[in-house]
Amino acid sequence: MEKIALPETLGNETITLQRHNHIFDEQLFNAIDANRTHLRPWLFWVDKTNTLEDTKKTTDLFINLWQEKSNFAYVILNKQNEVLGTIDFHDVNIDNRSGEIGYWLRKDKTGYGYISMALKLLEDEIFNLGFVRIAITCDSLNTASSAVAIRNSYSYEGCCKKALNAYGELHDRLLYAKINPLTSIS
Ligand SMILES: CC(C)(COP(=O)(O)OP(=O)(O)OC[C@H]1O[C@@H](n2cnc3c(N)ncnc32)[C@H](O)[C@@H]1OP(=O)(O)O)[C@@H](O)C(=O)NCCC(=O)NCCS
Repeated sequence: MEKIALPETLGNETITLQRHNHIFDEQLFNAIDANRTHLRPWLFWVDKTNTLEDTKKTTDLFINLWQEKSNFAYVILNKQNEVLGTIDFHDVNIDNRSGEIGYWLRKDKTGYGYISMALKLLEDEIFNLGFVRIAITCDSLNTASSAVAIRNSYSYEGCCKKALNAYGELHDRLLYAKINPLTSIS
């Protein structure tokens, strides 16, 4: 697994995942800005994204992390090149061949299966590279995110009690994971 390189573009007939780059900054910022109520309870960076400049800095960060191979962040687009949300493979650990997937969608784009599609596209690539384990974690109150994990056959591994600081309140964090069916750990 020395050479891990996820493709910069992935897609199917409905969506495209495109590596984060500055082309999408304005659309991304507008999507976040218009969806604060929907995103804020579960994504703690929302309150730190107050201007287009903040989004540009985040894109710079994602560009660097991609080069370091520690986080692979994609914008999710429809075929009209509209930003629907994002998905990323983060906490990448090459030694353990593991990492975690995170995601969000604009509220008006939920209910169409876009995250499930994006997850499948990304997961296939990750497993084809030889990664063994992908985790999904979420606030125990985040039923929509839990449903994504369950819908996509991630196994429930447990509840980490009081593991998430949600605006000063400690919430339980649920852990789901999928093991690569193609590989065995050597
Ligand atoms: C979590 C989140 C991304 C889930 O979005 P979603 O659209 O419900 O997720 P999916 O892509 O799996 O779509 C499933 C829904 O689309 C429907 N659907 C339609 N076509 C589908 C298809 N081809 N495949 C799967 N689902 C499909 C399903 O029935 C389901 O609808 P329902 O919830 O009304 O039953 C979204 O709620 C969100 O952005 N939340 C805020 C941010 C957040 O919590 N991020 C995660 C932090 S841990």
